[in-house]
Amino acid sequence: MTGPADGPESGIAFLLNGAPVRVTGESPTRTLLDWLRETRGLCGTKEGCNEGDCGACTVMVTDQDGSKALNACILFLPQLQGKAVRTVEGIAGPQGQAHPVQSAMVAHHGSQCGFCTPGFVVSMAVAHANGDRAHDDVLAGNLCRCTGYAPIIRAAEAAVEAPVPEWMTADRAGLAQLAATEVPGAFRPTTSEELAEWYLANPDAVLVAGATDVGLWVTKQLRDLTPVAFLNGIADLRRIERQGDTLRIGAGVTITDLRAAVQDLHPSFAEMLRRYASTQVRNAATIGGNIANGSPIGDGPPALIALDATLHLRRGNDRREMPLEQFFIEYRKQNRLPGEFVEAVSIPVTAPALRCYKLSKRFDQDISAVCGCFNVTIADGRVTDARIAFGGMAGIPKRASHAEAALQGHEWTEATITRAMQAMAQDFAPLTDMRASSAYRMKTAQNMMRRYFHDLAGVPVSVLEVEA
Ligand SMILES: Cc1cc2nc3c(=O)[nH]c(=O)nc-3n(C[C@H](O)[C@H](O)[C@H](O)COP(=O)(O)OP(=O)(O)OC[C@H]3O[C@@H](n4cnc5c(N)ncnc54)[C@H](O)[C@@H]3O)c2cc1C
Ligand code: FES
Ligand code: FES
Repeated sequence: MTGPADGPESGIAFLLNGAPVRVTGESPTRTLLDWLRETRGLCGTKEGCNEGDCGACTVMVTDQDGSKALNACILFLPQLQGKAVRTVEGIAGPQGQAHPVQSAMVAHHGSQCGFCTPGFVVSMAVAHANGDRAHDDVLAGNLCRCTGYAPIIRAAEAAVEAPVPEWMTADRAGLAQLAATEVPGAFRPTTSEELAEWYLANPDAVLVAGATDVGLWVTKQLRDLTPVAFLNGIADLRRIERQGDTLRIGAGVTITDLRAAVQDLHPSFAEMLRRYASTQVRNAATIGGNIANGSPIGDGPPALIALDATLHLRRGNDRREMPLEQFFIEYRKQNRLPGEFVEAVSIPVTAPALRCYKLSKRFDQDISAVCGCFNVTIADGRVTDARIAFGGMAGIPKRASHAEAALQGHEWTEATITRAMQAMAQDFAPLTDMRASSAYRMKTAQNMMRRYFHDLAGVPVSVLEVEA
């Protein structure tokens, strides 16, 4: 598999089902799924959607930070440098011993046609290894069309107490031997210093963080992206630092790690992140990618804008910062210069009145139709500060400035809320698309305002909390 551009020192080194491999001669945007199936004959990993939605291609990826489930269909080979991959073929033991989750799937009739089963088994095996018992969340990114989820969840529950097989824990010891080498067409910096210098010289290159957006440019749009820089090896971009009253979150922090970091500080934000895509996507997707792609329906920006987040950008040795809302200029146009990248975003550590509401057609694993985030400060019964930001209501994540003005300085009463809801009609002229009609979007956004009022008053507002 060695290509003409590759020398003996080139290649991507990782462990595959316990054995070291070095991949050479492949395009830097070759997906793990295609490579497994087409060159290794490992066809247990299935292709369902090829866009991160179904989980049929789930693999286990282990590095020094632990093991996680990822979708192989939107995972490029260079992202695996120095890591260990287990496919469903490596979840069973070396002598063919069934993993406890496999035995439980058989015992509980968790499989019918079997197409989804390898993906489920890998997700379950990763959760089993990590002691993660939130089975519904763990499996929200694995879709099954025929069995029904009850037997699968029963299987996951039944396997919980079984010890983790030793072959599942052996990978970490083998990571040290996987020296990094050159990969033609791909730059893999390990510090943001290196990235800054290289990107300044290669401003037309594509930055790849988690590849949960960029992956689809390859699998669905068949685009040639080279040259590319892979950011997942940059440790300093993955840092989360408390700086006084501020939390500075590196651009490379995954949604999984962000959710853990804001769990106690901003529980409503964390709860919304639980519904951001699926476990596999959250394990890959970064907050920097979520901001930089400028999507009007990304879930991170509305919450961050409501929190009055500051965005930190870097171009070469020049750094600048701005309120996050100023980054989004118009649909898919951001305030970012050639060669400039997102370094971090910082948020206040306290915002007790922050509430985030995500409305989507499905509860799990779905992009928002409308995402509303509210952060209103009330003193002596009056509004002293109001920050309200929406996704899905305009071509960019945007504040509801008329609604905010209708609140500012007024008594925090239902009458004021009603006026703010009416004022919101001046803030947005939302689109009709496959997710929702314009009228529906406006109505539900206005109703979120009322929901917020009741939420702050302690009334249960989540459908999951409704009491008879
Ligand atoms: C199945 C599925 C479900 C999804 N569900 C949701 C959802 O519920 N909510 C949601 O908000 N999103 C969702 N997404 C979209 C996606 O996960 C997010 O936009 C994600 O945060 C992108 O991050 P990434 O690290 O994967 O970015 P990448 O795909 O690697 O990059 C995205 C863009 O950002 C650029 N970029 C990345 N990092 C930087 C940086 N540091 N500086 C400058 N530019 C950078 C890239 O060049 C590219 O243009 C979903 C995606 C999939 C596939
Ligand atoms: S094939 Fe559907 S998530 Fe990968
Ligand atoms: S068993 Fe057929 S799709 Fe799940």
